[in-house]
Amino acid sequence: MTEKRTDKWWQDAVAYQIYPKSFKDSNGDGIGDLNGIREKIGYLKDLGVDFVWLNPVYQSPNVDNGYDISDYQAINPEFGTMDDMTQLIEEAHANGIKVIMDLVINHTSDQHPWFLEACKGEDNPYHDYYIWSDTAEKPNDWQSIFGGSVWEYVPSLKKNYFHVFAKEQPDLNWENKQMRESIFRMIRWWLDQGIDGFRIDAISHIKKSSWETKARPDWPHSPFTNVKGISKYLKELSAVFKEYDIVTVGEASGVTAEEATERVGNDGYFNMIFEFEHISLWQRDKNEAVDVVGLKRALGRWQRALDYGEGWNALYMENHDVPRSVSVFGNDAPQYWARSAKALATMYLLLQGTPFIYQGQELGMPNMTFTAIDQLDDVTAKNQIKALLGEKDQATKTLEILELMSSVSRDNSRTPMQWDWSDNAGFSTGKPWMAVNPNHKTINVAQQIKESSSVLNYYKQLIKLRKTKDVLAVGHYEDYLPTDEHVFVYERFLEHERVLVIVNLTKESAEITLPQTVVGKSWSLLLTNMEEDKETSAVTETVTEKMTIAPYQALVYVHN
Ligand code: GLC
Ligand code: CA
Repeated sequence: MTEKRTDKWWQDAVAYQIYPKSFKDSNGDGIGDLNGIREKIGYLKDLGVDFVWLNPVYQSPNVDNGYDISDYQAINPEFGTMDDMTQLIEEAHANGIKVIMDLVINHTSDQHPWFLEACKGEDNPYHDYYIWSDTAEKPNDWQSIFGGSVWEYVPSLKKNYFHVFAKEQPDLNWENKQMRESIFRMIRWWLDQGIDGFRIDAISHIKKSSWETKARPDWPHSPFTNVKGISKYLKELSAVFKEYDIVTVGEASGVTAEEATERVGNDGYFNMIFEFEHISLWQRDKNEAVDVVGLKRALGRWQRALDYGEGWNALYMENHDVPRSVSVFGNDAPQYWARSAKALATMYLLLQGTPFIYQGQELGMPNMTFTAIDQLDDVTAKNQIKALLGEKDQATKTLEILELMSSVSRDNSRTPMQWDWSDNAGFSTGKPWMAVNPNHKTINVAQQIKESSSVLNYYKQLIKLRKTKDVLAVGHYEDYLPTDEHVFVYERFLEHERVLVIVNLTKESAEITLPQTVVGKSWSLLLTNMEEDKETSAVTETVTEKMTIAPYQALVYVHN
């Protein structure tokens, strides 16, 4: 039997993540908005994107930039109106681009009417929509993900409510059936507006352990991450999703590859999940090299676990919660910046799964060098800065903090998108809500459209390649040289079609010896990130047993 190209549209698709606040401002107030996204549909189409994921655009006091929702069925006025949203969906659809939204249902804002009602008293019907301690005492010493206790005291009630994230983000009580029904009604309402699916936020946390449970010493968040019994709620949720022909991607912190098939297999709860194993490797001392072996192991484990119809991977190297990939996994020094951005793109875009590109990643946008504390916006950055500064603002401490933030803060990925060379990078005619990276004078869309060898044009080539080769869409995965500390070598294969991917993920040149199963075939070069060096011996047109791979070199071969 011939294995055919998939019949599930999202398996064949390339996704693009938009952080609306920083994508494009249409009215000069310095804040990106829905009409700004609309202006850029042509850009997305040209890039080859099939669907976009919008970070939250709902009504929100913006303590956590939209992840604290005060009305699920209203658009935050700074982003526009419901009509703008409808128009965006229509125009995107007319251009062959689907739209998925962020679904934040582990918690609401403390300004959500449900929570305001809940605080009025125990008899209020909404009280039990949230999670409360029985007495004034905190039931345990669990630590929230954003720092500090998970419990927050409400004097008028003499009780504490529970929050996994900031105290302004009280957790919803999934044990309450009315609460679940309210959430499901809201989900159906949005799907009836014609959106094409959801990215489901923080879904690993909707079930909590009993209060006396101790946190694992190596993992402070274990009592509220993937707790036994969560599947009951995931099943109910997925039953709602299955009423519609949509795509769902769960944010699945703490889920291992072994557990993944339950989440995304044929009877899984989601079509795909964002795993955290590989991405968490960004967290290391900035002088330490990338753990290439660990990265290959994590990605390879997920590739194998979901291959042969077991499930489907969501592929990503960046999002709004992590620093820029070229700065943490690649190398943003001038001589390697473009080459390493392309190397990373080659490495992850040709794996099995649906690739997600985070806005600006396709330009190789690096981290920001923050030069003042007030340039930082993220709630977690602010908490961290407060803790580091102590009471007084000291100049030396400030410099250290700025250096730290310039490498670890989530704000690195939230600076405005760089459209051109102009003062605000073409993002806004007003004062941007967040500082524009000064490097937009050289790194921007307008520039990269013109340059044939730009990172942007390389992304376009990769996307096109995925779409024209069945083997890259649905082919299986196998990797070689798992212990090599520099080079990632893997193959995609489907019947007689084979593609070999070789990527050096370090700044050292590396010698590799390929196995006979690979060397015995005849290959020709399909794509490289060192096109300009093709005339020299640095790029070999074919595969040989012993090869020298230049720093951050990427080579893609096809079996003849
Ligand atoms: C998810 C989001 C993150 C947010 C958190 C709380 O991890 O990606 O941005 O802060 O959930 O909603
Ligand atoms: Ca605006």
